[in-house]
Amino acid sequence: MATAPTPTEAPIAPDIAALRLDVAPTLAGTRVNDAADLFLLPAYAKLLCLPVVADGRVLGTLSRHALNNVFLRRFGRELIGGKPVTAIFNDRPLIVRIDTPLEVAVAYVSQHIGTPLTEDFVIVDQNDRYLGMGVVLDLLAALRARVEQGAVKLAGAYGQLKRSQSALVQSEKMASLGQMVAGVAHEINTPLGYVRNNVEMMRGLFDELRHSLQEYQALGRLLVSETVDEAALGAQLARIEGASAEDEAALLDDAAAMFDDTLFGVDQIRDLVVNLRNFSRLDQARVTEVSLNDCVEQTLMIANNVLKNRVEIVRRLADLPTVECSPSQINQVLLNLITNAAQAVAEQGGKILVKSEADNDWVRVSVQDNGAGIAPEHLKKIFDPFFTTKPVGQGTGLGLSISYQIAEAHGGRLDVVSRLGIGTRFMLSLPRRSRAQPEVVAHAPQGAVAA
Ligand SMILES: Nc1ncnc2c1ncn2[C@@H]1O[C@H](COP(=O)(O)OP(=O)(O)OP(=O)(O)O)[C@@H](O)[C@H]1O
Ligand SMILES: [Mg+2]
Repeated sequence: MATAPTPTEAPIAPDIAALRLDVAPTLAGTRVNDAADLFLLPAYAKLLCLPVVADGRVLGTLSRHALNNVFLRRFGRELIGGKPVTAIFNDRPLIVRIDTPLEVAVAYVSQHIGTPLTEDFVIVDQNDRYLGMGVVLDLLAALRARVEQGAVKLAGAYGQLKRSQSALVQSEKMASLGQMVAGVAHEINTPLGYVRNNVEMMRGLFDELRHSLQEYQALGRLLVSETVDEAALGAQLARIEGASAEDEAALLDDAAAMFDDTLFGVDQIRDLVVNLRNFSRLDQARVTEVSLNDCVEQTLMIANNVLKNRVEIVRRLADLPTVECSPSQINQVLLNLITNAAQAVAEQGGKILVKSEADNDWVRVSVQDNGAGIAPEHLKKIFDPFFTTKPVGQGTGLGLSISYQIAEAHGGRLDVVSRLGIGTRFMLSLPRRSRAQPEVVAHAPQGAVAA
C-alpha cells in the first residue's frame, strides 16, 4: 500500500482537511451487490470509489470501474455480487495523510494515479486511521487555485520589489547627483572667484580712466571757449601732464589683460555648464547616435573633481564610429567605472588608462587602473546589487549593478579582469549596430549618476 510521504516538518495544513468528504466507510464483509447500491446514495455521488475499512484501518477501495467490469460480464452480478467486496477491491489504494501539504499530495497522487481515472484517495490521520475520502479532481482544482493565488502574490511581491528598487536607485541617484553637483560647484567657484576679482579691479581702473577722461574733456572745453583763460589752460595742462602718459598706457594694458582673463574664466564656466548639461542630458534618456569618445571626454570633465591632482589620466582613444545609445546612461556607466578606479588607486602614483577601440561588430571603452585589485571571492559578487567593500555610508554597492543593467539593455556587455595588487580593467562593449531596446533602456534604472 503506497502512502504519501510524510514531510519531515509537517505543519497542519488545512489543504487536505478542507478537501475531506465525511463518507461512512464500507466494511470488509459488505457484499458486492450492496456496495454497488451504496453508489446510488447522494453521499457517494461524487466518488469514484468506496473506502473499505476494518477496525478503522483502510484495507482498500472498491471502484465504480471494478463494479462495471463485474456487471458487464455475463452473469457477473449473479456470480460475484454475493461475494464480499474484498474479492474485487483494490488493495493498493491512494492514501493521503491529513497533514500532507497540498503540493506533496498532488505529486504523490499524480505519480500513482492510473488511466482511465478510476480512483479517488483515502484520507487518514497520523496513526493511519480512516478519516474520510478526497476527490482527485478537487485536489487538482485546489492546487490550481493555490498556484493562481501564488502567482497573484508573486506579482504583488515583484511590483513591491520593483518599487523599492526604483526608490533605492532614485535615492542613490540623488546622493550621487548631490556629490557631483558639489564637485561641479567647486569647479565653477575658482573661475567665478577670479572673474569677480577682475571685475572689481576693472571698476577701479574704470574710475581712474573716467577721471582722466574728465580732465581731457575739461581741457577740450577750455580750448574751444571763446575767451581763452591762459591761466586755467596752463593749470589744466599741468594736471594732465601730472598723470604720465606711461601710467595711462599701463592702465589700458592692464584693462585689456583683465578683459582677456575674465573672458577666459567665463568660458571655463560656460564649458563646465555645457558639459554638465551634456553629461546628464536628463532631457534625453532616449537613444541617439554618439561617439563614445565624446562620452569619455564629458565624463572625465565631470569626474575632474574626484581625480584632480591625484590620479594621472592616460587617454588612448581610437577613431570610433558612432553608436546608437542613450548617452546619459553610458555616461553614468563611465563615471561609475572612473570613480571606482579613482577610489581604488593609491594616494600617490595612481594611474587610470581610458582606452577606446572598435572592430567590425563592437565599440569598446575600457577603464584600467593600477589600484588595489579585486579579491577573487569578491569578483563574482561585484555586479550584485548592494555589494560593496566600502565603509558604511560611502558606497551603496549599486554602481556596478546598474552599470551592468545599462550595458545589457543596450545589447552590450560589461566585463572585468582584475589582479590583486596589480589593478583592474573594466570593459564596456556596445554593438556597432544597435541592439538597444529603447523600452528597456528607458526603464533601466536611470539613477546612479556617480559611482
Ligand atoms: N576598479 C576597482 N578596483 C577595485 N575594486 C573595485 C573596482 N571597481 C569596483 N570594485 C569593487 O566592487 C564593489 C562594487 O562596486 P560598485 O560600483 O557596484 O559599488 P561601490 O563603488 O562600492 O558603491 P557606489 O558605486 O554605490 O558608490 C566595490 O565596493 C569594490 O569593492
Ligand atoms: Mg561605484
